[in-house]
Amino acid sequence: MQTLRLSPDAQGLARAADLLAGGQTVAIPTETVYGLAADARNGEAVARIYQAKGRPSFNPLIVHVADLQAALRLAHMPDQALHLAESFWPGPLTLVLPLRPDAGIASLVTAGLGTIGLRVPAHPAAQAVLHAFGGPLAAPSANASGRISPTSAGHVLDSSGGLDGRIAAVLDAGSCAVGLESTIIGWPEGRATLLRPGGIPAEAIEAALGHPLAAHDADPSAPNAPGQLTSHYAPRAALRLNASPEPGETHLSFGRPGPFSLSDSGDLAQAAARLFDLLRRADDLGRPISVAPIPDHGLGAAINDRLRRAAAPRT
Ligand code: TXA
Ligand code: MG
Repeated sequence: MQTLRLSPDAQGLARAADLLAGGQTVAIPTETVYGLAADARNGEAVARIYQAKGRPSFNPLIVHVADLQAALRLAHMPDQALHLAESFWPGPLTLVLPLRPDAGIASLVTAGLGTIGLRVPAHPAAQAVLHAFGGPLAAPSANASGRISPTSAGHVLDSSGGLDGRIAAVLDAGSCAVGLESTIIGWPEGRATLLRPGGIPAEAIEAALGHPLAAHDADPSAPNAPGQLTSHYAPRAALRLNASPEPGETHLSFGRPGPFSLSDSGDLAQAAARLFDLLRRADDLGRPISVAPIPDHGLGAAINDRLRRAAAPRT
């Protein structure tokens, strides 16, 4: 398969929408990371996502819709969820909600669960594709399963382990502004629970709810915690965290300048936006990687979550 590189102009967007309507997979930019999109109502199209990524089929996919109205057609939304949707959509928040039986979503998307992960992306190109296509798009991050998430079209195609030749097209709209995947909130035991830290700090969600989020005890082998596999976002190189630089390593610095600086000034949003690109570029050098300590609040919690998974023993 020849993977097309499309521009986010009228012609490129129309081509992307046509390919999606024909059951093909297209990598699209979002404000978090690039997603590998397919028609969420078409089981064969969704199967092509799993095939291209080499993703284990028990891992459900996030469904992207244009707005709250479209989300309400797919899922039941309790008051708390509605409040979060109104506060943070469009944006980097995914809500795991009870699936409507008549939603028409392919069962492969939800991996047979009674819930669906929904998100309204803010990126103008993602919004334009959703409007041109006119339906829900299943889209996990557009990387081979277990590898680092892509924050540019170049990452999606990447010569080693990328999706070039495995997907119909990539819509190239440059780098992703947030750079970390969405924050995922669900109500597994009736209480609002942080299922994955991400682009919206947990503190901001707690402020909107007016109470703390329940913590999710991630058991990596439990089928009710899909996708929270311990080793994830993995570079090939060994990774040391909370580290000072050692000779022979590539060091990702924070709060001071350096050739691989996450943020010279210690800005967590800048570090989040740069994290995956720096990890890829460091990994390409073939040396072990070390990362400076990152404060564990705000976006730092999501950065540290990704770093711990990247450093975990490979499963
Ligand atoms: O920012 C993002 O969320 C990006 C962009 C493309 O939107 N997407 C993304 O998707 O990170 P993915 O597939 O790489 O991660 C989705 C996570 C997985 O951990 C999956 O298990 C969880 O969401 N998930 C999806 N639907 C779920 C459900 N019904 N119940 C529990 N977890 C769910
Ligand atoms: Mg992913």
